[in-house]
Amino acid sequence: MADDIHWKKEYEIGITEIDNQHRNFLILINNIHAYAAGKYKILALKRLVEELTLYAKYHFFSEENHMLEIAYPLYNEHVRLHEDLLSSFSEMIFDTDCTNTDVHKLHTFLLDWFKTHTITEDKKLSEYEKTLIENAKVG
Ligand SMILES: [Fe+2]
Repeated sequence: MADDIHWKKEYEIGITEIDNQHRNFLILINNIHAYAAGKYKILALKRLVEELTLYAKYHFFSEENHMLEIAYPLYNEHVRLHEDLLSSFSEMIFDTDCTNTDVHKLHTFLLDWFKTHTITEDKKLSEYEKTLIENAKVG
């Protein structure tokens, strides 16, 4: 089982609202890990997974609003990535028997989601925003 991961400076994308949400998301992922370590019962795991799903939806919605505000050119592509993550996750939940092996898979999936989506895709958004700010200063 992968360990809990703790917030690092390198996870920051530089947009405060989104960074704060990512921090909370990481806490929810670590809660799932705690279940895998045997801390929670099945009903509690289901509630943790539900909590994480609701939070992910809220977070994606809020991130997408931010993209619309700045007319982010990769909006459609990014929204599709969000939809894919949510649908892959809901398939995994549907299939889960809440065994430790299943929870391990869920946790690994979530860590990968956090590291790859947050670091690569969400950073593209903040890079774009920085360019807008720089251009506004020049212009
Ligand atoms: Fe995103």
